[in-house]
Amino acid sequence: MKCRRCEEQAVVEVRHAHAAYCPTCFVERCREQVSRAIGEHRMIRSGEKVLVAVSGGKDSLAVWDLLLDLGYPADGVYLGLGIGGYSDRSGDCARAFAERRGATLIEIDLASEVGFTIPQAANTRRMPCSACGLAKRHLLNKTALDHGYDVLVTGHNLDDEVAVLFGNTLQWNMPYLARQRPALPESSGFARRVKPLVRLTERETAAYCVIRRIDYIVEECPMASGNRHLLYKELLNTLEERDPGAKATFLNGFADRVAPLLDDLAAQERDSVGTCSRCGSPTTAEVCAFCRLRDQATRPPRRRKKRRRDRSVH
Ligand code: FES
Ligand code: ZN
Repeated sequence: MKCRRCEEQAVVEVRHAHAAYCPTCFVERCREQVSRAIGEHRMIRSGEKVLVAVSGGKDSLAVWDLLLDLGYPADGVYLGLGIGGYSDRSGDCARAFAERRGATLIEIDLASEVGFTIPQAANTRRMPCSACGLAKRHLLNKTALDHGYDVLVTGHNLDDEVAVLFGNTLQWNMPYLARQRPALPESSGFARRVKPLVRLTERETAAYCVIRRIDYIVEECPMASGNRHLLYKELLNTLEERDPGAKATFLNGFADRVAPLLDDLAAQERDSVGTCSRCGSPTTAEVCAFCRLRDQATRPPRRRKKRRRDRSVH
């Protein structure tokens, strides 16, 4: 296989683009795709303060690396979730990357910040991944606002976005569909949230990290088994195997033809947001979902009442 651009030996095949690339041209292609996503969706404007949510995985480290190389002086934020050795190793990867690139990494620890870890949140009514997503959205947004960042960058890639779209479509979850955009504008209580990797697949971000010699945590989160999102990804991978490009067609079709029809709903959703009576975060309820989660996760476990024999005589 020859590189599409320079005819050198290719090392990465990008099936949905019907092309293969040598390491140098592949890295160049990744930069172009990220630049294009940023430009098309006006994700970052010049002079803005940028914060990258870093998990220690391939996507968040790749997007941080790409932004730095594209000239954005981006800082990172790492949230320690308290998932034993998994969290220790992912934190190490985030720290090692920051040190290697001479970049600033803000660290937050879930347990010391809010009094519970993700394994403790698993005892609540929420699935661990859903509790984790909620905690991340809440604390990362809060950190961005507290430190005066204009934009919060996440490492969601094309596969993530397609799997979320697929799940929301299966359930016709209209408010979530209305919110599914590569860039969500800033609004009261929210920093702008953007996904510059939306044009790159999971395979591409992994290849990028290998070529760039970025150490990332390869193992899956131990709390993720049974996660529906992973099932959707598997199904979509089977589809992509048979029909390369199907994922990108699905996502781009939604963005071009359906998302604009949901603009009014998205605006209504934004308008209906008030503030949490406890923490002041944006919410449509009296108390936000994060405060409710914290109540449940930090509540002492209920003692089982001993059953007494009913001795009354009827
Ligand atoms: Fe959030 Fe695993 S990383 S539950
Ligand atoms: Zn709250």
